[in-house]
Amino acid sequence: MRFYITTPIYYVNGEPHLGHAYTTIAADILARYHRQKGDDVFFLTGVDEHGNKVAQAAAERGLTPRQHVDQLAPRFRHLAEQLGATNDFFIRTTDPEHEAYVQQFVERLKAAGDIEKRAYGGLYCTACEGFWYERDLAPDGTCPDHGIKPVWLEEENYYFLLSKYQERLAELFRANPDLVKPRSRYNEALSFIDQGLEDISISRSSITWGVPVPWDPEQVIYVWVDALINYLSALTYARPGEDLVERFWPAVYHLLAKDILKFHAVIWPALLLSAGHSLPTGEFIHGYLLMGGEKMSKTRGNVLDPFAVMDQYGIDPLRFYLMREVALGQDGVISLEGFEGRYNSELANELGNLVSRSVSMIGKYRDGRIPEAPVDEVLRDVAAEGEAMVRAAGAHYDVVAVTAAIETVWEYVRRLNRLVEEEAPWKLVKEEAQAGRLDMVLHGLAAGLRLVALAIYPVIPGTAEKILQRLGQAHGAADLLLEKAAWTGLTPAAVVVGPPLFPRIEAGG
Ligand code: MSP
Repeated sequence: MRFYITTPIYYVNGEPHLGHAYTTIAADILARYHRQKGDDVFFLTGVDEHGNKVAQAAAERGLTPRQHVDQLAPRFRHLAEQLGATNDFFIRTTDPEHEAYVQQFVERLKAAGDIEKRAYGGLYCTACEGFWYERDLAPDGTCPDHGIKPVWLEEENYYFLLSKYQERLAELFRANPDLVKPRSRYNEALSFIDQGLEDISISRSSITWGVPVPWDPEQVIYVWVDALINYLSALTYARPGEDLVERFWPAVYHLLAKDILKFHAVIWPALLLSAGHSLPTGEFIHGYLLMGGEKMSKTRGNVLDPFAVMDQYGIDPLRFYLMREVALGQDGVISLEGFEGRYNSELANELGNLVSRSVSMIGKYRDGRIPEAPVDEVLRDVAAEGEAMVRAAGAHYDVVAVTAAIETVWEYVRRLNRLVEEEAPWKLVKEEAQAGRLDMVLHGLAAGLRLVALAIYPVIPGTAEKILQRLGQAHGAADLLLEKAAWTGLTPAAVVVGPPLFPRIEAGG
């Protein structure tokens, strides 16, 4: 199976924040999971560097747009790296290859007879980089997404005849109810189409920071058209000498938040149809991270710095917390207190503790080697539940239900902790006659933890690898494949004792 996963390309109008991290982490989880299934995966993220919003941010800093983006784009690239994202490419819309492809793409729209020059005036929100109908604004006339007043913008521009695609889009949507998920977002997109599509301006004459319209270099291509095309352009130059479009289009899944649903679920499909491409296989629309009840956004100024959180607590705790707390598809409130609570209870007490006590008991009671043991009545259920847990977690990842996958794994972590309490190895070790049972329990803990590591790997990959390493198990890409997730896949190896995986955060610390 082919699996091409994308994040939105983020505006470089400021420093990256946790909202950006959230989507990148989610996309990375899906990429890693699909690699574990043995799929052919390509994972793309990057930055959106053109347009008014970025040009304005540059002007505010007294820089040219070029200087500004050259300073900030590396911060976004660095964020992806810091998060442990395994993106196969990082696109910048100022890449000359992207710019050339955008020009070719709009030439195709023109050749299809879908471009016209017209005058237009409308209410434009620079934060959205988009026009609003008056009826859709907040009661006080502000943009409902950014809380700022749109400005009247009037220009003679090139138009894309979106209205021509209304029927075809509606038909395609009706024929494929899985195109956009969750269902509420699908309904929203479809009702938007059914309300009637108006042609959209796809060029700007008022700004210069963008890709020139190939047949009229006085105008630049609208930043949203430029940006959406990245999903295709990247495939043409990410691997020099190799055209990945054949291989990965249309096996593409777009991940994004609801703020940019219309662009992805309506405008992008129409542009694709016009240029002669198939529609994406799927789009998954998630909700917002909220802070103090409001969407976290650069424009609103209520942002948490992901670098600071990772410096203090590590990468995996951040990945875990965001995915555990805010189920993809819903909005969720995040806070430092919430983070510390889950860190201590779920990571330190439940998972971290299970790993250290299992490894240390194998160390003390069996000279540091995982004992061989048959699966008999003591562990038959634990073994079956472990294998079922991996399958259930996979079924959740398959439908982008990462929070549910985490919960499934954690139920099993608790099950293994109960096994320790019930069997009390520290008592078994004192009775000669219980040596076989102790072997089974210790073997079972190691085998169970190995399955936990495989199932949770997409979410907290560094921790999963550490668990395997503590259990003396190989942990290369081939060892992480889900086809290896059998109870009996454990190698009775020597364990490696190490410091706690998650040192507790002390109150006020
Ligand atoms: N540049 C456009 C996207 C072009 S894609 C062809 C853009 N950029 S953005 O920087 O504003 O990023 C928006 C995306 O960042 C959201 O769709 C979401 O993926 C992520 N998020 C930004 N803030 C977020 C939250 N507060 N919560 C969740 N996701 C957030 O729009």
